[in-house]
Amino acid sequence: MYELIQVLHSYLAYIVLILLFMAVANAMMGWVGNKMFTMQKDLRLSLFALILSHIQLLVGLILYFVSPSGIKAIQTLGMGGLNSASRLLALEHPLINIIAIAFITIGWSRHKKFMEGNKKFKSIAIFYGLGLVLILSRIPWGQWFN
Ligand code: HEM
Repeated sequence: MYELIQVLHSYLAYIVLILLFMAVANAMMGWVGNKMFTMQKDLRLSLFALILSHIQLLVGLILYFVSPSGIKAIQTLGMGGLNSASRLLALEHPLINIIAIAFITIGWSRHKKFMEGNKKFKSIAIFYGLGLVLILSRIPWGQWFN
């Protein structure tokens, strides 16, 4: 069970990061170029990025309770006993990623309120962008590429 969820979370991370990169780049180009916001491309890309981020959030939450590096690390070592590597996995990565996905969700909800394409693009570019930066700031890179 643990290995399966861990592998899923690890592979899903590639898809989520690629989709978020594409959604942010697309929104920035649409915003700067004052383009029309289309259902076919722009809405679909932002929606896929949102859905995959939420799936990753759910998988991450399950992982947090089955992984030895999640809540179990805090239970065994205590808050004070965590070193920087274990604090990243047990505290910083989960907390910052939940905040990041909240930003992405806000960006999606805000874009729906606007009629003008450039305001829609702006909402996606800023909030998805913030979310992406937060996610990138707390990826356990060393562990992921091992
Ligand atoms: C978009 C959001 C997220 C991304 C891109 C992401 C990405 C990653 C990556 C790349 C790893 C390393 C995987 C590996 O070692 O192969 C990881 C590990 C982990 N993630 Fe996430 N994650 C996200 C959200 C979350 C959330 C919301 C939680 C918990 C609430 C979470 C909990 C964990 C835990 C506990 C580990 C360590 C698993 C272990 O090695 O046993 N993640 N995550």
